[in-house]
Order: sequence, then C-alpha cells, then structure tokens
Amino acid sequence: MTQDLMHIVEAHGQKQVLNFWNILDESEQEQLFRQLEELDFENLDSLIKEYVLQKPEMHIPEDLSPAPYYPLEPLDEKQQKLYQQAYATGEKLMRDGKVAALTVAGGQGTRLGFDGPKGTYPIAPISQKSLFQYFAESLRRASVKYGHDFTWYIMTSKLNNQPTQDFFEKNNYFGMAPENVIFFVQGTMPAFDYNGKLLLEEKHSLALAPDGHGGTLLALRRSGCLEKMKKDGVEYISYFQVDNPLVSIINPLFVGLHAKENAEMSALMLAKTGPFEKLGNFCVSKDRLMIIEYSDLPAEFAEQRNTDGSLKFIAGSPAIHVISRSFVEKLTAAGRLCLPWHRADKKIPYINSDGIKVTPEEPNGVKLESFIFDALPLASQTMILEADREEEFAPTKNKTGVDSVESCREMIIERDARRLERAGVKVPRRANGRPAVEIEISPLAVMDDEDCINYCRANGITEIVDNGKPVYLK
Ligand code: UD1
Repeated sequence: MTQDLMHIVEAHGQKQVLNFWNILDESEQEQLFRQLEELDFENLDSLIKEYVLQKPEMHIPEDLSPAPYYPLEPLDEKQQKLYQQAYATGEKLMRDGKVAALTVAGGQGTRLGFDGPKGTYPIAPISQKSLFQYFAESLRRASVKYGHDFTWYIMTSKLNNQPTQDFFEKNNYFGMAPENVIFFVQGTMPAFDYNGKLLLEEKHSLALAPDGHGGTLLALRRSGCLEKMKKDGVEYISYFQVDNPLVSIINPLFVGLHAKENAEMSALMLAKTGPFEKLGNFCVSKDRLMIIEYSDLPAEFAEQRNTDGSLKFIAGSPAIHVISRSFVEKLTAAGRLCLPWHRADKKIPYINSDGIKVTPEEPNGVKLESFIFDALPLASQTMILEADREEEFAPTKNKTGVDSVESCREMIIERDARRLERAGVKVPRRANGRPAVEIEISPLAVMDDEDCINYCRANGITEIVDNGKPVYLK
C-alpha cells in the first residue's frame, strides 16, 4: 500500500478497511489496494453526508403534473399520418444499421430466488427457452427482416458477468454471431454501515454492489462501447430490461417517433392498473419529464382522479427506452455521471472488527444506486409513446403471483394466441376466455403480426386443434 493511499483512507475516516492489512497475502493486498484506488474519497464523503448519515427526503415538486404522451391509437388523421411516417422512418433507420439493442442484466434478481443471472432463467412456457435465448432469437428474426445484423449490448455486473458470458458461449450465442453480442460490465458502489463506514465483505475486499442501471451510461463510455457504436454508425439505442420477454426489442414506431421528435431520450408508457401498481410514474415539473418511482409517489398524487374517474397519474413505466447515442456521449463527456443516487437499506454481510463474518437479519447498512430514468430530466427533448400492456410487458420479478414466472408464461401464451387469431387462425378457448391449449410461437419465426400472417399462410395453419397437447410453432 502506498503511504499516499493509506493517508487518504485514514484522512477520510475509513481506516477500518485496513484492519487486516498486515495478515493479507500479497495478492489479497493487491485486490484491496485496487478497490481503494478506484474510489473517489472526496465524493464519497459528500455522498455519505447526503445519503447515508441521513435519509434524504424525496422532494415532490409542487407543480407536479401528469406527463403527456402519444396514445396507442392515433387520435386523428394527422396523427395517423405521423405514426405511419414514423414507422417508415424507424424501419429505414434499422435497415441502415442506425439502431442497436441494449439489455440491462446486471441486477441480482433476488426476488425471483433464482441462483444465476436472471437472463438464463428458462422462461418460455413450452420450449423453456431462457430470457437471453428469447431475445437473441427475436434479434435474429429482426436482422433477417431488416437486412441488417443488429448488435446486442448486454450490461452485466461483476457478480454475474462470467456466468452470463459462459452461458452464451455454451449455447453458441443462440445462433448470433459472437461479434454481435457485446458484454460490458457496469460499475460498483461500496456499501456503508449506518455510520458511513465502508464495509468489508472479506478481509481483503470491500462490500461492493452494482451501481444501478443508471450506471449503464458511464459503463458504455468506459468499456469503449460508445466508441464502437459511433464507429458502427449506431445512433439510437433500444434499451430494455432482462426480465421482460414480451418487449418488442426493436420497435419501428417507437424509434421513428423518437427520431422525428429529435428526442434525446424516449420512453414507452403503460396505463397503470391501479394507483399503486409497482411501476415508475411519468410526471412533469417545470417542463421537465421525470419518473417518480412507485415507492416515492405520495398517495395524494397516486390516487388523484380525472372527472371521468380515470387515474390522473396514469402513465406507468415498463422501463423501455430509446436513447440517442449522442445524449449518452453528452452526459458522460466529463468521464463521470451526474445522476442522483437512491438509497436502499439492506442486510449486508460484513467482516466485523474481530475478523468474523456477520450475516445480519435486519438491515445494517446502505447501498446506493442510480437509475437510468433520472437522465430524462436532463434531456433537451423527450417523447413518450403508449404501448399495449398485453403485447409489450410481462415482467418476471417474483416466483409466484403478480409479475411472476407464472404470469409471464401465461402472457406469452395469450400474446401468441392473439397473434394467431389476428392472422385469422381459429384458437380454441375455454369458458373463461383463456386459450384451451398451451401455445408458443418461436421468436425466430414470428416477431410481429405481419410475420404471423405470412407464417400461417406458408404453413397452411388455419386452426389450432385442442388434442390435449401443447402447440409449439417454430
Ligand atoms: C423497475 C423500475 C420501475 C419500472 C419496472 C418495470 C427501477 C428502480 N424501477 O423496477 O420504474 O416500472 O422496472 O418492470 O429500476 N439492473 C442492472 N444493474 C443494477 C440494477 C438493476 O442491470 O445495478 C437491471 C436488472 O437486471 C433489471 C432492471 O435493471 O433488468 C430492473 O431492475 P429491478 O431491480 O428488477 O427493478 P424494479 O424494481 O423491478
């Protein structure tokens, strides 16, 4: 340890992290040294003061109002024309290679209780394809459709990067060219106890946690991905979360409207099912678009209603965005990112001063995360487009119940059944309206209604027969 770094650590009141320095072997010392060297202690001091020693109060602006958005169905002829033009623009941008896909997959997925990167979870109801395979095949289909091999950027974290990459390797990248699948690792933030002291996870290692999906922006720059996008001519990033297999990974109308509006960052929105649905809320204050998390929007706002009884703050976020590459470049130009931090009180295993590992049963400290949607108020121009929940959003968050593996699988079956019906195929349904047989269509074959019509025509499918067996169309 250089004397300099040791002095810095001490001067900032963090010398407890060196408690075991003298008993570490050389490589352990090296590891701890590297971790400490990366920290900006000045900055940490102010973060500790602002977020750890006190619970920052969520300030809700007085002028908070619901955000305007483009509706799912165009309201009039003028808007219809705009949507048609935007769709064509979006398709052209894809054909011209101006769009890349980006999945954030660095989270720990603790709620799902699955031991492994969430993207490796076998989500498809019949084929049991993993989330990653589902997206890869959708992208392969899109590549054929638009005559351009899309690049897929996948953000991992230090915790799951290796198993994620191994999974792709083992499965031959699900048929994608390996050079079109780019992994980049998000940054970390150290965890603190309630006195603002850095916690040790091991005697030779700080307790570090992923820095939130807001970390995507800086990680894109630091990893060289931003540079690569520029070199490849990519202007728009189609951003989505790893937990939602229904997402239209590359959506021509969404990308096209974003481009036509000269937006720097755009978002899809869904009509919330109730005031307290666990979705971020699109709001506006002082002409700036922002998302206020479900946990932060006070009930007196969440429950406000229009005269027709509908929710005033109706717009919920499925966390699907288009982000201009130039916006990411602008935000990260100084080599750091100025998004606010969000505090989460957690049970953080740590090494106590006697060198014993403690696994707390109650929250004992604080982790800090930044959120990608906090970039929205920083954008000079934004755009929100309404999406059809049933077609676009089936998040896999929990083991059972709402937003679970179960509900997600049902929604895939429903979506595919509806697609077939829209293509003129007869689908047997039960009295409760649910498809009488399990149905799944491979994303390699069908990515939208147009595909489904062509597929059914080419394969002479006019009716799904209920013979008690699942129907997998590939
Ligand atoms: C998130 C959004 C919420 C939105 C909802 C839609 C936040 C804080 N809230 O809620 O506004 O309505 O999804 O489903 O995000 N991730 C990383 N690195 C991290 C942390 C997360 O890559 O450090 C990724 C996860 O892998 C996942 C996504 O970000 O793909 C969302 O994380 P999650 O913790 O599941 O967010 P939610 O609370 O479910």
